[in-house]
Amino acid sequence: MTSSPVSLLEQDAVGVLRIRNPPVNALSPAVVQGLLDGLAAFERKPDLQALVVHCEGSTFVAGGDIASFQDPAFSAGPLNQFLGRLEAQRRPVVAALHGTVLGGGLELALACHWRIAAPNTRVGQPEVKLGLIPGSLGTQRLPRLAGAELALDLMSTGAMLDAQHALAADIVDELSDGSVLEAALVRARDLAAHPENIRRVSTLRVDTTALRPDFIQKARAHAQQQPNYPALDSIVTAVEAAIALPFGEGEQVEAREFAKCLRSPQSQAMRHLFFAERQAAKIPGLPASTPLRDIRSVGVVGAGTMGCGIAITFANAGFPVTLVEATQAALDRGLGIIRGSYEATAAKGRLTAKEVADRLALVMTSLAYDDLAGCDLVIEAVFEDMALKQDIARRLGAVCKPGAIIATNTSTLDVDQIAAATGRPADVVGMHFFSPAHVMRLLEVVRGAATAPDVLGTVMKLAARIGKVAVVSGVCYGFIGNRMAEVYMREAEFLLLEGATPAQVDGAVEALGFAMGPCRMLDMAGIDVGAKTVIELGKTGGLPNDAAYRAVVQKLFALGRFGQKTGSGYYRYEGRKPVASEETSEICEALGRELGVARRSEIPADEIVERLLFGMVNEGARILEEGIAYRAGDIDVVWTAGYGFPDHRGGPMHMANAVGLAHVVDRLDHYARVRGNAHGYWTVSPLLRSLAAEPSVLSGPSRPACAFR
Ligand code: NAI
Repeated sequence: MTSSPVSLLEQDAVGVLRIRNPPVNALSPAVVQGLLDGLAAFERKPDLQALVVHCEGSTFVAGGDIASFQDPAFSAGPLNQFLGRLEAQRRPVVAALHGTVLGGGLELALACHWRIAAPNTRVGQPEVKLGLIPGSLGTQRLPRLAGAELALDLMSTGAMLDAQHALAADIVDELSDGSVLEAALVRARDLAAHPENIRRVSTLRVDTTALRPDFIQKARAHAQQQPNYPALDSIVTAVEAAIALPFGEGEQVEAREFAKCLRSPQSQAMRHLFFAERQAAKIPGLPASTPLRDIRSVGVVGAGTMGCGIAITFANAGFPVTLVEATQAALDRGLGIIRGSYEATAAKGRLTAKEVADRLALVMTSLAYDDLAGCDLVIEAVFEDMALKQDIARRLGAVCKPGAIIATNTSTLDVDQIAAATGRPADVVGMHFFSPAHVMRLLEVVRGAATAPDVLGTVMKLAARIGKVAVVSGVCYGFIGNRMAEVYMREAEFLLLEGATPAQVDGAVEALGFAMGPCRMLDMAGIDVGAKTVIELGKTGGLPNDAAYRAVVQKLFALGRFGQKTGSGYYRYEGRKPVASEETSEICEALGRELGVARRSEIPADEIVERLLFGMVNEGARILEEGIAYRAGDIDVVWTAGYGFPDHRGGPMHMANAVGLAHVVDRLDHYARVRGNAHGYWTVSPLLRSLAAEPSVLSGPSRPACAFR
């Protein structure tokens, strides 16, 4: 029999309900059962004066057990029953808070009669990030304590409040500098002596004196502007109930809205991503006990766009960084970029002058590769040129100390060829950051044929330390993300040749929730950058024998239309605002004529979406087939964390599962028929075709058997 994660202890005539469920004391079904049993034990001991709820480890309950949300009997059942019974105790109940008090943790605290918090405490209701609303009466108790406005804001954004702000907002009653448990015991005995000070939140009314009369109306209008996040509207409904209805009726409203959100495709997609991100960190076959390499200092070669962003990323995480360039001028320019970036952040009030100085002090610059000899990790970020990268790899192989990891930030080149040049390929790995490197969350970690398992494990762990979500990719052109983006861009450009406008193409995917359509994205990244990769690929024989393939980007490049930076690309720019460009239409029309592409008068948005996204899903299936990605979820993480794919659609592979793989295959076959398939663009991946043919028997609450897993 396993022991319960909850125990009832006794300390100086006060019961202590202690939770011990590492790492973050999540409210699993076993914890809830333990709480119910512990409370029953307390109820059997009338000699105890009061009860304190306390957690072991680095934090109070940091949330519900998300895997259990699927089980509707869990959230709304035993936990809510427990919270009701806890609040109804006649003897005082005090919550002793420390660390991150989130979701179900805050709901547990709100059901206590008094909340006392350590200075490191932060509170929040992050359920909205999973497309949900708080499900254990957070929507009813939080407005009663903090007021409707703040409660709505906290629940709609998932933002956290620190201890001081939580005190000011009345969410906690007192702070304690010393032992929060000791302070809670003192407070519990005091409340036992003065029961008139006991406050049961469910009996309070929401204070509406300072509330604008149109508060709910405005909040609802705002929520409805974001129909892809229906939980926002449900939060407004629940807050309205907290204001207008008795607690018991509000409870029913919350339960109804929670169940609705739980069933919503948006929440299913967001929960899929939550798990996929955690799964992505795991490397199949790499035992958790593998000893990892110690990374304390980092070198970066190349102080261009990416090198500077990478240096900032590591300095932000407290690592000393040695930045090496080919010339003093390039080094000075790079340091200027880094300084400018920090000063801009400081100007927005997000860094103090001291923090800027401290971080800048971590960045050393040099023209000598010998200065990289002491670094535990060196990342190369020079021009995308194989000969240059191999030359630098050779130098790094010689200069880096034994055991140091050598990484390349190449976005398309063969990591194995770069690794071979170092003479120590086991130490080499790809670390593909996204621009701007200090902002974008994604890190593609490219596993070379010879990359040592501990190198891979070390870099995955390091990714978490620098705030990145990391996904492993095997070696192939463009890895997971850019390889799929190539299909996406290919179809975008074919559509332009057929007569669609950039605004139509972008609009079709932006309507799905994409942050930016393909044309706007490439205008921002630089048409020159995009065209050069196509041209380079052509030189290595990697392009299909199709003159129309990515012809638009190459034409715009030849015409000097590099995108935002030159004021025109697919669009014309008024400042940073993209405006439809007559010239682009003329260029595309002339090019289409030249290439013999038939113009069409009307191209439906559905077709744009299917050609862009289903083509990409097909490429994703090939990536799985070839073992380039470990799992479909990894591909979804790449696209949501690195390419602006909407989280409420869960990434391309989840989206394909949701619309049905058989439908995706049907449409790919359709485009093969109507567009021809001379270049294999619409050849369905065998994996996709076989998954789509599996009988569609439901194997879980929502997941068809024929699905990417
Ligand atoms: P960039 O042109 O801004 O910077 C390259 C830098 O390398 C320049 O500052 C140059 O002076 C320096 N360099 C050239 N030869 C050198 C040498 N022998 N020793 C030291 N430094 C040298 O290029 P960017 O955009 O930063 O790209 C760098 C790498 O990152 C490329 O492999 C690129 O494919 C990759 N990448 C670029 C992304 C982007 O959006 N720009 C995104 C992800 C990866």
